[in-house]
Amino acid sequence: MDPRADRLSRIAPFEVMEVLALARRLEAEGHDVIHLEVGEPDLPTPERVVEAAARAMRDRPMGYTPALGLPELREAISGWYASALGVDVPAVRIVVTGGSSAALLLALGAAVNPGDRVAMGDPGYPCNRHFAAFVEGDPLLVPTGHETAYQLTAELLEAAWEPGVRAVIAASPSNPTGTLIPPEEWRRLAGLCADRGALLIADEIYQGLTYGRDPETVLSVADDVVVVNSFSKYFQMTGWRVGWLVVPPGWVRDIEKLAQNLFICAPAPGQYAALAALEPETIAVLEDRRAELHRRRDVLLAELPRTGLRVRAVPEGAFYVYADSAEVAPDSFALAGRLLRERHVAVTPGRDFGLAAPERHIRIAYTQPVDRLREAVDRIAAAV
Ligand SMILES: Cc1ncc(COP(=O)(O)O)c(C=O)c1O
Repeated sequence: MDPRADRLSRIAPFEVMEVLALARRLEAEGHDVIHLEVGEPDLPTPERVVEAAARAMRDRPMGYTPALGLPELREAISGWYASALGVDVPAVRIVVTGGSSAALLLALGAAVNPGDRVAMGDPGYPCNRHFAAFVEGDPLLVPTGHETAYQLTAELLEAAWEPGVRAVIAASPSNPTGTLIPPEEWRRLAGLCADRGALLIADEIYQGLTYGRDPETVLSVADDVVVVNSFSKYFQMTGWRVGWLVVPPGWVRDIEKLAQNLFICAPAPGQYAALAALEPETIAVLEDRRAELHRRRDVLLAELPRTGLRVRAVPEGAFYVYADSAEVAPDSFALAGRLLRERHVAVTPGRDFGLAAPERHIRIAYTQPVDRLREAVDRIAAAV
């Protein structure tokens, strides 16, 4: 008998990692590959953050921290909510985690019983349905289209609702579309979930990366929700593995119990680094980078029409454009393969993100400087 668990069959690999592997092979052969596939910009962690971590590693013991996180970091995140977002989130509700990946796992682990449904918008972040499967839940993918900016709405959720929905995951700004959920829609989603006894999990990992508008949080319109966030994206600390949860007050002890058992704590060096990430001097650097990403987005949106790729919902955040490729090729997976092999431009086919018309979409991450983006568009235009 094969000792491997059945759940493995419900968890798929990240397609984008396979694209990345082929891109790396092509690079090893000496080709100039333009990487627009992975979800991290070319921008390094700010120097101040690196130095603070190095200092902490020299001067501090680097043992386990409390499972809920360093108290001073929880306080600093609470201060960030007040200063950057104008909401009062007491530090006792904040749990520091190993990135938002651990945060999502903790939230689902605390909410979902075997067989419960976990609803989520499709297209969406691929790991969500696999996290749901890992906690023995059953993902319910709710198809969305450009009419709702590829976002879950209360109306779509209500129409798709099935018995046994215990948790709902929505992200704003979203991966793969970069689109937002407006505060009013968050309010409606939270109201629907509360009425039906389900937990709303708001993934705000791309908070801070919005263009032409201020960052927002679901916490300004709803309280009884779980918020997932991270130092990975706006703070450009993907590899440091630090994120956080905001949980309703009554949930803290249960999440702590799970965190103690599953992870003991988030990485100590990363937590000290995160403290420096929240300092005003670092935020000034990050705001310049946000302006740079804004510029890149604008260039890509202006240049893409000459490729035949259509952007049907304007991305207002994150660093992704989800483009409709139907006029260019019938199968976006084949198109992505061709762009990579023949033109050395790596993009992610829609397949990673769900079942809602994946064959007619590709995700382009504007994680490269403007001149490389222009070059990529030239190459795509030549290919199609
Ligand atoms: C929507 C979304 N949620 C969560 C994550 C996980 O990020 P991390 O664990 O680095 O915080 C990602 C990473 O790309 C993401 O796009």
